[in-house]
Amino acid sequence: MKWWRDAVIYQIYPRSFADSDGDGIGDLPGIIGRLDHLAALGVDAVWLSPFYPSPQADAGYDVADYRSVDPLFGRLADADELIASAHARGLRVIVDLVPNHTSSQHVWFQEALAAAPGSRERDRYVFRDGRGDGPPNSWQSVFGGDAWTRLPDGQWYLHLFDAGQPDLNWDNPEVRAEFEDILRFWLDRGVDGFRVDVAHGLVKQADLADWHLPMMPLTGPGAEGAPRPPMWDQDGVHEIYRRWRKILDSYEGERILVAEAWVQPAERLAAYVRPDEMHQAFNFEYLEASWTPADQHSVISRSLAASAAVGAPTTWVLSNHDVVRHASRLGLPVGTPRPNGIAAGDPQPDAGLGLRRARAATLLMLALPGSAYLYQGEELGLPEHTTLPAEARQDPTWFRTDGASVGRDGCRVPIPWEADAPSYGFGPTDRSWLPQPAAFGELALDRQVGVPGSTYELYVAALRLRRAHALGHGELTWVPTPGEVLSFTNGDLLVLTNFGPVPAELPAGAEILLSSEPVAGREVPTDVTVWARLT
Ligand code: NOJ
Repeated sequence: MKWWRDAVIYQIYPRSFADSDGDGIGDLPGIIGRLDHLAALGVDAVWLSPFYPSPQADAGYDVADYRSVDPLFGRLADADELIASAHARGLRVIVDLVPNHTSSQHVWFQEALAAAPGSRERDRYVFRDGRGDGPPNSWQSVFGGDAWTRLPDGQWYLHLFDAGQPDLNWDNPEVRAEFEDILRFWLDRGVDGFRVDVAHGLVKQADLADWHLPMMPLTGPGAEGAPRPPMWDQDGVHEIYRRWRKILDSYEGERILVAEAWVQPAERLAAYVRPDEMHQAFNFEYLEASWTPADQHSVISRSLAASAAVGAPTTWVLSNHDVVRHASRLGLPVGTPRPNGIAAGDPQPDAGLGLRRARAATLLMLALPGSAYLYQGEELGLPEHTTLPAEARQDPTWFRTDGASVGRDGCRVPIPWEADAPSYGFGPTDRSWLPQPAAFGELALDRQVGVPGSTYELYVAALRLRRAHALGHGELTWVPTPGEVLSFTNGDLLVLTNFGPVPAELPAGAEILLSSEPVAGREVPTDVTVWARLT
């Protein structure tokens, strides 16, 4: 059974999901204790951001040991228990694999530092001599500043992200063999798949040619016809994923690979999900589309066509741990370029409008054929924390840009479970590695369960109906509709989103099954999505 083709996959950010020991940082036992929430919500799988031993220079995306669990999060036995407990509830488990770089504390990098230029140890990474006194080329780190750091012996090493995240050399067979072994380690422990970090970055253009355009933080080549940056989306990455696919296919069950690849246009992204490569790729073009019927129509059509051309399911995503939560992003004026974060001094989102649009956007997304990703807390309608004090910020982007770019902490704040408990029930104490905004109290899970119209109940109802009507397996047919309206059928459902100021009318005989806000009669108000059955 190809469960992943229509799966709803819930992203857990372990630092911020549930804290069992009261140290203010979430952990694996905390997640185990909250799995019933995910089963009740009705998702099919969870994806866990990294929980491996790490100095946490980039919140765990700097891995020091790929085969263990950081004591911050628990022990390896907790990972085993988490996998078993999730499986017992019918939830599949996807773990994060970070192959583009290791931590600078990884034993390989420590060996490389101790070894001489030209040594086997250094060849596992990208070491080069500089040009004169400067770095080997013009590349910048995605997090700001130079992408190279100099060692006392004069050589430089490449890090497309933080200096604590040296890039591996994927031309080295030892690196390839090591990651194939890491895949097997977790497959043997029962995981159902891997979300592959920076999947478009592993192979660099051999000449490490200069690049003078922006690195476009976490973004690929951009608009059609634009030159392809020498560090992203090189054709050589595909051979790696073909080998990995063979390994996954040699295991029982449908284990999957999901590409985190900021690659555009959709056709280039689709190359990552050809039949003998990965199973899915995140659809960031969809996440970045503006809230207009024209943009939504065009990105949905393009995405469906590009993935259909290679026989892969399309994926949909609105939020994750790297972007401003969609309940806040959609509260900014339409057309605002997607911000990397929001600071207290920036124009603030309209919270009411943002939540209304977020609920409409989610209902639109969950009606689309394919697989959908949810980010922890969006089922509560959580906003971005836009007024974090400077001293609380932890994202390396903040430090590497001297505060010019606030970074991603605002979407990573520990989530609220109980309105009246310390840390809103995140843990047994009032400790929380990032301070929680007061707005989280009213949005806590216990304030929403069983409350008609709450965002939580909207998600539960949507996931139940999505399954009952097999929407993820369905086919989308656009229904031309006047006004600023998007409408399509999927199976026996009619889906309509009204983006315009004028109410949109449902066809006669349409019976509303679910709507993102209350709808009286057949008039769908602005910024509302409706699922209806045609009778
Ligand atoms: C993408 C991850 O989602 C992000 O959080 C991380 O900073 C970079 N990759 C580098 O690993």
